[in-house]
Amino acid sequence: MLINNAAIVHRFSFAADEQAVAKAAEECSVNLLAPVRLCKLFLPLLKQNTDAHIINIGTGLVYAPRAAYPFYNASKAALHAFTQTLRMQLPEIRVSEVLLPVVDTPWHRGQAPASAISAEKAVKAVLRGLRNESREIRVGKVKRLYILSRLWPALAVRIINRL
Ligand SMILES: NC(=O)c1ccc[n+]([C@@H]2O[C@H](COP(=O)([O-])OP(=O)(O)OC[C@H]3O[C@@H](n4cnc5c(N)ncnc54)[C@H](OP(=O)(O)O)[C@@H]3O)[C@@H](O)[C@H]2O)c1
Repeated sequence: MLINNAAIVHRFSFAADEQAVAKAAEECSVNLLAPVRLCKLFLPLLKQNTDAHIINIGTGLVYAPRAAYPFYNASKAALHAFTQTLRMQLPEIRVSEVLLPVVDTPWHRGQAPASAISAEKAVKAVLRGLRNESREIRVGKVKRLYILSRLWPALAVRIINRL
C-alpha cells in the first residue's frame, strides 16, 4: 500500500506576493509531482501484489476552491484528476482518494478553525470508507460540499470562502 499524504499549503496574494510563482512551484512539486513520482517508483512493486492499493490524500477544496490558497486548490485538483486516470489505467490496483474537511493537525500551526474535526474522527471515517471499498472517501462535511458543488457550484464556492 502506498499512501501519498505529505503536502504543503501557502496562503498568499497572487498579485502582491513577489514569491507567488516560487510558492506555486513548491506546492506543485510536493502536492502533485511527489505523488506522481512515488506512484511511478512503486508501481513495479505494487504490481507484484494481488491486493495492491494506492491512497492519495486530497481535500474537499477540489470541489470548491478557497481564494486564500491560489495554488494549493489547483495542485490538489490536479492530484484528483490524476488519481481518477490512474484508476482507469490500472484496474489491477485499487486506487482510492480521501477528500478531507478541515482537520485539527499541525497543518494549522495551532490555530485550527472551530469547524475542524479531530484527527481521530478523520481517521475513523477514512477507515470506514476503506472497509466499504469506497474509491472517493469524502469525510464529514465534504459529503455535503460535493453534492452542493454539483447542484449549485457558485454557492459551494461562496460557503467555502465564508469559513
Ligand atoms: N489538516 C487539514 O485541515 C487538511 C484538510 C484537507 C486536506 N488535508 C490534507 O491532509 C494531508 C495531511 O496533512 P496534515 O493535516 O496531517 O498536515 P501536517 O500535519 O502539516 O502534515 C503534513 C506532512 O507532510 C510532510 N511534508 C511536507 N512537505 C514535505 C516534503 N517536502 N517532503 C516530505 N514530507 C513533507 C510533513 O513532514 P514534516 O513534518 O517532516 O515537515 C508532515 O508530516 C495533506 O495532504 C493535506 O493536504 C489536510
